[in-house]
Amino acid sequence: MDNAQLADMAIRGLTKSYAPYSGFHVSAALLTENGKVYHGVNIENAAFSPSVCAERTAFYKAVSEGERNFIRICIAGCSNGYLETDGFSHGILSDWVPPCGVCRQVMREFCDPESFEILLARSVTDIRIIKLKDILPESFGPEIIRP
Ligand code: THU
Repeated sequence: MDNAQLADMAIRGLTKSYAPYSGFHVSAALLTENGKVYHGVNIENAAFSPSVCAERTAFYKAVSEGERNFIRICIAGCSNGYLETDGFSHGILSDWVPPCGVCRQVMREFCDPESFEILLARSVTDIRIIKLKDILPESFGPEIIRP
């Protein structure tokens, strides 16, 4: 599973996003050490606070299936307009979608910040690669509280 394939999964998955309130669709494809990919979308809620981001959906699906070792995640996002006018795959998305602070902390729970890669995709070829350590410096992680 190369980066373009992972980006393709994330971008194609945008149509599964449930975002009737913000109108902003996010999709994430999470690659495990064993080469399996877990996909997640943002799922909003009429009561707002139960809403969950795409990245956490992907992590929680994977961890629920027993996965604990992750290599990278690819994130793509777009507003309603893009989905309506341009379809969903292989287009150029207008913006990079970096993970929110809560999702960064969830990544920190299961991933090595030195090596875990976060791919931001605007298309299958337009991909930025960042490291968790660079977007969550001086972080609080599980090893700090483990006896
Ligand atoms: N969202 C994500 O799914 N991931 C992010 O990293 C940023 C924000 C979602 C949450 C909400 O459903 C919508 O995007 C607008 O904030």
